[in-house]
Amino acid sequence: MRSVPKSLLPIAGIVAVTIAVLSPSRATADANDEDAADRVARCANRLSIAMVGETASPDLLASRAPQTATDAFLRDPRFIERFSRFINSQFNMTPGMTPAEDATYYLAKYVLENDKPWTEMFLGPYDIVPSNPQQPASEAVVRPDPNGLGYFRSRAWMVRYAGNEPEGMRIVAAYRIMWNTIGLTLTATTNAPDADVSAAGRQATQCRGCHLESWFALDKVAEVLGKRRGPDDDIQFDPPTGGPKQILGGISVSNDKELVEALVSNEAFDVNACRLAYKYLYGRTEYSCEGPAFDRCVAAFKKDKRIQSAIAAVAKDPTFCE
Ligand code: HEC
Repeated sequence: MRSVPKSLLPIAGIVAVTIAVLSPSRATADANDEDAADRVARCANRLSIAMVGETASPDLLASRAPQTATDAFLRDPRFIERFSRFINSQFNMTPGMTPAEDATYYLAKYVLENDKPWTEMFLGPYDIVPSNPQQPASEAVVRPDPNGLGYFRSRAWMVRYAGNEPEGMRIVAAYRIMWNTIGLTLTATTNAPDADVSAAGRQATQCRGCHLESWFALDKVAEVLGKRRGPDDDIQFDPPTGGPKQILGGISVSNDKELVEALVSNEAFDVNACRLAYKYLYGRTEYSCEGPAFDRCVAAFKKDKRIQSAIAAVAKDPTFCE
């Protein structure tokens, strides 16, 4: 029979004492660990649902720092699909009647898949067209086009937003261009059945603000877009003839390209990119108390103009998981 080696006894004694001393604080440590684990799991789920619309994978749930997965999510095809649909819903009130009318969906997807700057959405050399020119309702594709201006010169988009102004002025397109780039939001107020909607009618006090006087004066902006001509089933577009116009608070602009360049180089464009990032990730625009995080988003977006950078700045911010 072996006796317990004497040398071990004191150690066993110390261990027992140590355990006795440690056990109460151990219990709190475990509780803290559980809290921390819960927080991390909540963060993982929140991020995954926001980015790809699904709860977190087991790997992400096991991660100690789920927000570091943001960059991988930004390349995930599920994110690209979901964000492109989100953009389409933000830039159009309703889904298009044909795929090419949803040019914003197709170009957003192209821009994300090819890691292009967000400015390419509005200025890039592309045309979004039906894959079969004989069938307007066929699947749409993004084609390189040196004359392109994002989707703004794609015919299906131009026709969708050609408007019905009596002189063919493209007021609706002017509004959409400002909305999609800098996030201008107005509520048109022309539905009074007896309203005189002509250029003379738009001089009226209740119309002038939006149509003629503010920095976004819709009629002035529309003048540099040229006009629509012809019946709804055969719309033609004529280039502008009026020469340069002073718009957007004194910038001289003579055509659609100069207009979009002016809009995209305005800080309102950067702010709108971050507003889209907030809406995508939080389902709402930013709160004023989120100012510092929002500013970090704008700074990140300004650096490389990638919408992914804006989204990453918001999703990686500590506040996102609080
Ligand atoms: C709050 C801003 C605002 C006011 C005020 C306003 N409008 Fe507009 N108007 C808009 C917007 C925005 C559009 C573009 C609507 C769109 O994109 O569908 C528009 C479009 C139009 C169009 C072009 C419609 C088309 O299909 O081409 C006409 C004509 C028009 N408005 C007339 C008027 C008249 C007349 C008044 C005054 C009774 C008026 N608007 C007041 C914002 C305004």
